[in-house]
Amino acid sequence: MESRIVASLDLTDEKSLIKIASLIGENVFAIKINWPTVLSLGKTIIGRLSKFSKVICDFKLADIPNTHRLIMEQIADQNPWAVIAHAFVGKDSLSELVSSGTRIISVVSMSNEGSNRHLNPRWKELMEDALESGVYGIVAPGNNYGLLRQISSRKGNMKVFSPGIGAQGGSYIESIENGSDYVIIGRTIYSDEDPLSKVLKINLDIENHKF
Ligand code: XMP
Repeated sequence: MESRIVASLDLTDEKSLIKIASLIGENVFAIKINWPTVLSLGKTIIGRLSKFSKVICDFKLADIPNTHRLIMEQIADQNPWAVIAHAFVGKDSLSELVSSGTRIISVVSMSNEGSNRHLNPRWKELMEDALESGVYGIVAPGNNYGLLRQISSRKGNMKVFSPGIGAQGGSYIESIENGSDYVIIGRTIYSDEDPLSKVLKINLDIENHKF
């Protein structure tokens, strides 16, 4: 069975990052990297990690269409599997990203407490824009099951990626029960003294669970 883990390797030290990526790469659905990694190691880390797994760039892009185009041109040579972008910038900005040909995963809600004030109450409108822009997937919180369930019920063809697992309180089993296609897990994996065993255990727990 294909893994449902997206390992969020928010590491800034190249040796540690490559070591963990080479250990777990074949046993996860994808590796996600974020700004700390790219700012520390440069954009070529995207291509270098692609040897081990699909790479998702969690850039949470939120800009005008022209700047989105310029950014996607800069990373095209690294061939990321997907890029994460905010949906709140609207359909013109999202569609520009989609037209790059790289899969776009769109943030329609977030797992941190502060997002409950402005972002999360607008999830329906954000989902409409994401759907109409043709994005591949959406991000919905794996530590807010009520919201996750509502979002997942309207996902159409889009895949649901859920952070907020472990360090932020969510459970990967409950997250999948409430509609996640993939669970994004960071510190729980990369801070473990044996990240490969951790990944294998999570895969097995998910495989053995009756959903
Ligand atoms: P941890 O260590 O908390 O890492 O498992 C989670 C990773 O995912 C990012 N993150 C989010 N990304 N929407 C997103 O698009 C969210 O709601 C969200 N919450 C966490 C976080 O930056 C880290 O890379």
